[in-house]
Amino acid sequence: MDTHVKIFDTTLRDGEQAPGCSMNLDEKVEIAKQLELLGVDIIEAGFAISSPGDFKSVEIVAGVIKNSRVASLARAVQKDIDTAYEAVKNAVSPRIHVFLATSPIHMQHKLKMTPDQVIERIKNSVSYAKTLCSDIQFSAEDAMRSDKEFLALAVQTAIEAGAAVVNIPDTVGYITPEEMYSRIRYLYETVKGIEKVDVAVHCHNDLGMAVANSLAGVKAGARQVECTINGIGERAGNAALEEVVMALKTRKPFFGCESRIDTKQINRTSKLVYNIIGHTPAINKPIIGANAFAHEAGIHQHGVLADKSTYEIMVPEEIGITKNNLVIGKHSGKHAIADKIRELGYTFDENQLASYYEKIIDLSDKKKFITDSDIEAIVNNREMSEGVYKLEHFDVHTSMNSTSACVVKLRKGNEILEEVSLGQGPINAAYNAIDKITGGICEEMNSYNIHSISDGNDALGEVTVKMRAKDKTVTGRGLSTDIIESSILAYVNGINKLSSMV
Ligand code: KIV
Ligand code: ZN
Repeated sequence: MDTHVKIFDTTLRDGEQAPGCSMNLDEKVEIAKQLELLGVDIIEAGFAISSPGDFKSVEIVAGVIKNSRVASLARAVQKDIDTAYEAVKNAVSPRIHVFLATSPIHMQHKLKMTPDQVIERIKNSVSYAKTLCSDIQFSAEDAMRSDKEFLALAVQTAIEAGAAVVNIPDTVGYITPEEMYSRIRYLYETVKGIEKVDVAVHCHNDLGMAVANSLAGVKAGARQVECTINGIGERAGNAALEEVVMALKTRKPFFGCESRIDTKQINRTSKLVYNIIGHTPAINKPIIGANAFAHEAGIHQHGVLADKSTYEIMVPEEIGITKNNLVIGKHSGKHAIADKIRELGYTFDENQLASYYEKIIDLSDKKKFITDSDIEAIVNNREMSEGVYKLEHFDVHTSMNSTSACVVKLRKGNEILEEVSLGQGPINAAYNAIDKITGGICEEMNSYNIHSISDGNDALGEVTVKMRAKDKTVTGRGLSTDIIESSILAYVNGINKLSSMV
């Protein structure tokens, strides 16, 4: 059996579909490029028919990605399949991903179709898709709550109609690893021709077993795992790519197979996605949480000092976390800074380097020690100052038990726009002043998050805000050692994104 497990990343489709995880076009393209660098085999770029915006982003991703397949999701109907094909047709390796539910619950209540009609639809839709594109994936939605004989018939029908990949999703995160293992084994033993196609697993995390179930699928013979960066996705999310990949790598002798992921890109990819959706990982999140490689208990520290392998099964360098061995400070030259950024896994052009350099030197005036996390935060937040409005100045007055006041000056082209406003606290006052300047383009702010990039009370504070105008939601980000400034920068960044969209 093939030892290569293909990684199908659906961050831009199943992940983006989750509340609070929406992304704009530029953000999707940036993530897609990073997924390509990470080495994912297939990027599911979206669900082309779901909106013109989705169509466009799938089409653009299909045009820029060269080393990964690009897939679009489609329901098992001709219009969806045509639209998916239109969106991916210019990709170097396009794929149409057709899905139809096969569980009694879905067939009866959602599709209102009989089992015979479902089989007929699978046959017609997959064979139609095959006339457009050679690479067709069929997913039996809610496969794990489907009757196993019926699922085998559905899978067999899809293979006979030309599917190159058959996906067995646990759509509602219901099963256990043992059940997944026996279901995949059952299919291998029952379905004719299954050995000629890739069997995929796609597990949701409702009971916290998505990664374990995916790995059980691999153990049973599945050679495509569908997952998302940081495990984002519908409800409790999808299997986390970084966990699946590191389990395959760390336990290679047990699984007997491997992915082609460049694990050194994991940390960077994870940060990019968190940055874009405006969240941070739980500290104990496997692989990428702040504590994933930390040892606090004395007995553990003692063991690790004696020999790392006592308590470490992976090393941080494997996922691209480097040690702070080069001290960056106010006297560092551009070369040292360029080397450091490269060592952290980033590529850049001369203009970008000039801007990072300026920001890092500026930061070294405010902060005693510059950490790798500070540098990464600056690099990851590079586009924050782009857009029609630019913060020129603010002046805030705040004290306990009284209303705060803030004056904000924004530059728009050659004009300086200034407003003053009151508010419940300095941030509210500043945001009210910005709303006055920008004509209230932001209709709603759904979330405000602040976190510190490194330790110490001179740390950089990163603020992310989710902002909505009409049907568009964006994430604004701001970074500064002054948390009021980072709050204002985040809001201005969100306003700039909204202004370019509505
Ligand atoms: O969870 C699911 O079943 C899906 C399918 C569309 C593959 O996302
Ligand atoms: Zn899903």
